[in-house]
Amino acid sequence: MGIPLVIGIVVLIALAATMIVASGSHRSVTGVLSRETRRRDAARRASGAAGTPPTPTDDTPPTPTDDAEATRAARERADEARQELTTGGAAPAPAGATAPARREPVDEEALGVTRRQFFNRGILATMALSLGAFGGAALAFIYSKSAGGFGGKVGTGRTAASIKADLQSTKAPVYFPEARAYIQPYPKADVAKAKGVYEDAIVANMEELGLLALYQKCPHLGCKVPWCQTSQWFECPCHGSKYDRVGEKRGGPAPRGMDHFAISGGPSGPLVIDTSTVFNGVPIGTDTTGQGAEGPFCVGG
Ligand code: FES
Repeated sequence: MGIPLVIGIVVLIALAATMIVASGSHRSVTGVLSRETRRRDAARRASGAAGTPPTPTDDTPPTPTDDAEATRAARERADEARQELTTGGAAPAPAGATAPARREPVDEEALGVTRRQFFNRGILATMALSLGAFGGAALAFIYSKSAGGFGGKVGTGRTAASIKADLQSTKAPVYFPEARAYIQPYPKADVAKAKGVYEDAIVANMEELGLLALYQKCPHLGCKVPWCQTSQWFECPCHGSKYDRVGEKRGGPAPRGMDHFAISGGPSGPLVIDTSTVFNGVPIGTDTTGQGAEGPFCVGG
């Protein structure tokens, strides 16, 4: 989850940066006269010098000197017009004529938002919304695990007494798929032998409830370890590891006994299996209950 999340955020940020840069690179080109305009200016200037109007059929191409001169003249005229607008230096109107409306520079505050600003802000807002939605979904995915389900506290909806009744009648563990765990009985007479070998939280479950929760995952290479009704042991079909009723290793390549989860809820309340912490199984050679195989094995001989 972590790597795809980081990659997704980096890609979105790169996309946003690219769009912003691209939107800023579209600059309008000003101050360049078209060839047609320069040609017309040159013709007009030539006609002024010679005192004769230019003929429409005069399509002699202008020389580079003519082009430069035309450009300079056009810029001078543009500067003069700009000067008149900004300094109010326009020629006085004839008597009786209505003064032409003066062109004022546009007030940016009155103008509000330009089209470019509008689109840039729209793009940024869209990107922010997309990132926010993506981040929210990622957080919801990450924290959904701790709200229930495997990786958090899983309610069984059953009391210790109800589970014990099933254990006794079926002679099989009670399995909770959402917790990926089996609940098995642990003889109270053997709890003293378990102290110092099992984790304190697991020993507390043995003392208070007479139960322990076993993680279904084989400590060898992770296969799900099923229960064998005939031998009354857990037997892994992958490489043949075997564990007795309380998950202590009896044979095979596994490096330890089956792992555990802590149980809470007390003797009378509904039990909760806390799968947020996996307690390692007990070391090879541990045999606190002395339970031997009670019948034929399901895996191997
Ligand atoms: S995975 Fe269970 S013995 Fe190998």
